[in-house]
Amino acid sequence: MELKEVLKTRRSVRRFSPTEVSREILLNIVNQALTAPSSRNMRTTRFIIVDDKPTLEKLAKMRDYGSEFMKDATAAIIVAADTTKTDLWRENCAISATILQLAVVDAGLASCWVHIGGRPRLKDNPEGEQAEEYIRTFIDIPADWSLECAIALGYSDYTPKPLPEHDDSGSIIWHTRE
Ligand SMILES: Cc1cc2nc3c(=O)[nH]c(=O)nc-3n(C[C@H](O)[C@H](O)[C@H](O)COP(=O)(O)O)c2cc1C
Repeated sequence: MELKEVLKTRRSVRRFSPTEVSREILLNIVNQALTAPSSRNMRTTRFIIVDDKPTLEKLAKMRDYGSEFMKDATAAIIVAADTTKTDLWRENCAISATILQLAVVDAGLASCWVHIGGRPRLKDNPEGEQAEEYIRTFIDIPADWSLECAIALGYSDYTPKPLPEHDDSGSIIWHTRE
């Protein structure tokens, strides 16, 4: 698929068909995300590939808002970082996750970002257990990694509407030659 087509097609999808995604496809998607640029080429982003239902069901309970749909995803790729090499690991993660979501579209799949970093499990209890702490109770994750987000993915159960038109003129400033 051409990049323009990928950008036009990408939407956040939260309803998936039960068709499994092969491990070859999952690895191929991660390999494309590994092409992401990173600060001082420190390549700090790490990926945890999850494709078993019981773990997806547990991930769906990471927060009481915005993660429940993960129980019906076919797979999830947790985007994490080795935080020891640069203070810009979050930025590196976000770039990797975005490229990963574009690679998902190119593979004929769909996805949605579920945020983990700095998010509590319960919206009304921001000081309580964090989503990341909860995930560490059932996935073995090195202590010096931090979790940014999970990209829930699968074959879409429907054809999402194209991106709505926006008046983005206020988002752009031209500082021109004359
Ligand atoms: C940083 C970030 C965090 C997000 N967190 C969540 C989330 O926790 N749960 C969710 O369902 N969607 C989440 N999303 C998806 C956004 O809601 C979605 O991208 C936005 O509504 C625009 O829709 P679109 O992706 O279809 O263009 C997140 C997206 C980004 C970029």
